[in-house]
Amino acid sequence: MYVLGIESSCDECAASVVKDGNFILSNIIATQIDLHKPWQGVVPEIASRLHTRWIWSVVDLAVKEAGIKKEELGGIAVTNRPGLVGSLLVGLSFAKGLAWSLDIPFIGVDHIRAHLYAPHLENDISYPYLGLLVSGGHTVIAVVRGFDDIEVLGTTIDDACGEAFDKIAKFYDLGYPGGIAIDKLALEGNPKAFRFPSPNLHKGDHVYDVSYSGLKTAVINQLDQFLNPGFEKTKENIAASFQKRAIDILIKKVKRAITNTGIKTVVAGGGVTANSYMRSSLTGLWEVKTYFPSLELCTDNAAMIAGIGYQYLKSGEVSDFSENAKARVPSFKRGYP
Ligand code: KG4
Ligand code: ZN
Repeated sequence: MYVLGIESSCDECAASVVKDGNFILSNIIATQIDLHKPWQGVVPEIASRLHTRWIWSVVDLAVKEAGIKKEELGGIAVTNRPGLVGSLLVGLSFAKGLAWSLDIPFIGVDHIRAHLYAPHLENDISYPYLGLLVSGGHTVIAVVRGFDDIEVLGTTIDDACGEAFDKIAKFYDLGYPGGIAIDKLALEGNPKAFRFPSPNLHKGDHVYDVSYSGLKTAVINQLDQFLNPGFEKTKENIAASFQKRAIDILIKKVKRAITNTGIKTVVAGGGVTANSYMRSSLTGLWEVKTYFPSLELCTDNAAMIAGIGYQYLKSGEVSDFSENAKARVPSFKRGYP
């Protein structure tokens, strides 16, 4: 079955056609990065206006590139949560209209679960595994038993990991988008230049949780305090030291989850999993099999939406026209259903 995926939750206007949940026929991503650059962050109103302007051509191109006609689509999957509400509504409304006109089912899907599905588009991965979802808005370590069966072990108690990359890059004018800019600068810096703090979350409910607000405060407001003797306060050194600490905080918790659950497969997804230091550190873990999406499927794309959408449609789940966009997933906490 051909499923059309539509993604418009933030600043990528994307559409893709995926066959049978795992064969990508087209993957169109129209990024708005350059248009938000002057503000060094995504401006929600600008994002939704651009989605409105672009969505028709992006979908049209995705169907054309797949080499099929719209009438051959068996269903439509669209991100309807979480994200910027105005942006989500553009994709969702478009998907509803197209599904109605073609008389085919549509399904609203969760962006977070879709990120974890991305590596399935390129690999044959069996369940269960430890899912590591790290994006601009979410940081989650979970036991994943099925495409829709996710038990959250730990999450951030304050800021998302990607958000810390973005805010630090903005403060020190390191480049936009922040994550990619820091990743690049870090290659020229020394990760030992600053001794940034690590959160103290070792006990009780928090054994798998992470925190980024303390690290963010240290890098932005207390930089001098953490400079090691003999090192210089350069952008490259700030980037390298921050990146190492931010990623090590996560890797420590992933290692703990591997030890405690005995699950030796880690599947990563989300924009931050494009990070070169994270990819090399996690791939090197002894006796652990790690799957990362290719760089194009780490950040927002519609192939992951079409892929997971196919699984829902196959199991008989469909949305009706009352389906709405949701900015947040309120139950996003331990035991996420
Ligand atoms: O998954 P994504 O595209 O959108 C959300 O769902 O949030 O993730 C975007 C996040 C941003 O915070 C961006 O700075 C970060 O992913 N990111 C990176 C890298 N590439 C993107 N962070 C660290 N290193 C990278 N190479
Ligand atoms: Zn995302």
